[in-house]
Amino acid sequence: MGAPQTDVLSIEEIAVDDSEDLGSIALVTINRADKLNALNAEVMSSLKDMAEWVEQTDNIRVVVITGAQPNEPEQGKRAKPNAFVAGADITEFVGKKSDDIREMFTDNAVEALWNISKPTIAMVDGFALGGGCEVACSCDIRIASDRSRFGTPEINLGLIPGYGATQRLVNLLGYGKTMEMIMTGEMIDSADALKWGLVNHVVEPEQLYQFTMNIAKIIGGKSTHTLKVAKKTIRAALSTGLEQGVAIEAEAFASLFDSEDKEIGVSAFIGRHRAKWQHK
Ligand code: COA
Repeated sequence: MGAPQTDVLSIEEIAVDDSEDLGSIALVTINRADKLNALNAEVMSSLKDMAEWVEQTDNIRVVVITGAQPNEPEQGKRAKPNAFVAGADITEFVGKKSDDIREMFTDNAVEALWNISKPTIAMVDGFALGGGCEVACSCDIRIASDRSRFGTPEINLGLIPGYGATQRLVNLLGYGKTMEMIMTGEMIDSADALKWGLVNHVVEPEQLYQFTMNIAKIIGGKSTHTLKVAKKTIRAALSTGLEQGVAIEAEAFASLFDSEDKEIGVSAFIGRHRAKWQHK
């Protein structure tokens, strides 16, 4: 099945390693630069299709999600700012009632991103607001340019976040900072985002792509099977107590001793050669 490209979502497959067949990184670009890549219904349905395709496509090892760069401004008009995603498309909220919104927000694309079993990275260059901050938080790793700004401004619309930020931000920032961010609706810059634990790294815009791809390629060179077990096991820490979580880890660790990749990895270390994973 080919990558499900649409007008608002482009997907580029980038080899993890040109010299060996290690599969690909899916570079997914949300493509509505004139609207600061705001999440309209079309983007959301494209993201869901992308998540399904990633799950079904063995060749895809890692997903990197980003926003399209601004277009050249029309003559006499000001340039639009850089954005990862400036939130849900607010124009789609007009006149909507709770029943419409329940339907839109149930089983939504941000949950689909969160449920991708493979590693996901948000590559953020510019505004990551509201649903954009939530898309970033639904990824495993966030890497931002130093001109990025994060926020949950829904309070200014008489709303609260609806794609999981009240929960996922608490995991990343803790209770107090989450309260501050959601209750003030103020943006924070990338330096604070780094300090607060919202992003893993901050780099200059010119380095963002290379820096992100380096991490994606390192991860892409590992066993997909082992990565899935790692992701699932780490996720358990978000919903279980320590004792139960440690028991889940012990079982996951033991189960890997029946995998082909454990034999391959251990033999590669002992034989001083590079592991050629079977991904099982
Ligand atoms: N939904 C729909 N359209 C959006 C949008 C959103 N969340 N965010 C930006 N846009 C659109 C603007 O309406 C504008 O469209 P236009 O050029 O056709 O008029 C375009 O994107 C550029 O945005 P603009 O507001 O002109 O840029 P700016 O540099 O003045 O301000 C922001 C940038 C990010 C501060 C501002 O766009 C903003 O506050 N956006 C909304 C953020 C938000 O509340 N997100 C949470 C939604 S739940």
